[in-house]
Amino acid sequence: MTSMTSRITEDAEAARDQLDQLLAANPVVPVVVVDSAAQGVGAGRALVAGGIATAEVAFRTAAAGEVEGLVVGAGTVLDAAQAEAAIDAGARYLVSPGLSVEVVRCAQDAGVPVLPGCADASWIMAALELGIRTVKFFPASALGGPSAVRALSAAFPRVRFVPTGGVSAGNLAEYLAVPQVAACGGSWMVSRDLVAAARWDEVSRLCARAVAIAKEAGR
Ligand code: 3PG
Repeated sequence: MTSMTSRITEDAEAARDQLDQLLAANPVVPVVVVDSAAQGVGAGRALVAGGIATAEVAFRTAAAGEVEGLVVGAGTVLDAAQAEAAIDAGARYLVSPGLSVEVVRCAQDAGVPVLPGCADASWIMAALELGIRTVKFFPASALGGPSAVRALSAAFPRVRFVPTGGVSAGNLAEYLAVPQVAACGGSWMVSRDLVAAARWDEVSRLCARAVAIAKEAGR
């Protein structure tokens, strides 16, 4: 029987393991958009104060990558040029809303973990062919939420999902109750409004709440 996934290099395989370990240790991955270096540092520190150790940051500035205690992945990476720029800026992993073969290959060639978005079975099959085993399920709530993840998992029992899009403190536990959910992503604890108003205490409080929900869910 042939392998379900394509052959990938040892570096790409090590990067894949790194991502799985990072998500296992961090069941909540905030999605952060900042417009300045100052916002990046402020948001990063607020996340860490709230017990968060990794975040997906839209890489308009590398500043958030310099916050101690925070492993920063580049979010919304759409093409190879952005992937290369993010890796050069120090992104520790790449996240895309959809599946771009060139983004995945760029990350794999660089030995950097990559989390592509997949919205249905066909995209998951395409991801498997590229040697991916953990995907961002985006936009999760619009696609059917936890029950959609369960349904897809019946066909792809080895795939791990990171539902993102519409996840909130109100439904986080429901997503994390699905065994195939590796972690959940979302912006609810670090919304654009909170960032714009520099309400860092509130960001920390919402992060701490999310971490507590994950703990209660056994993560
Ligand atoms: C993303 O970029 O992944 C989404 O904007 C996050 O979705 P949310 O804002 O609904 O959490």
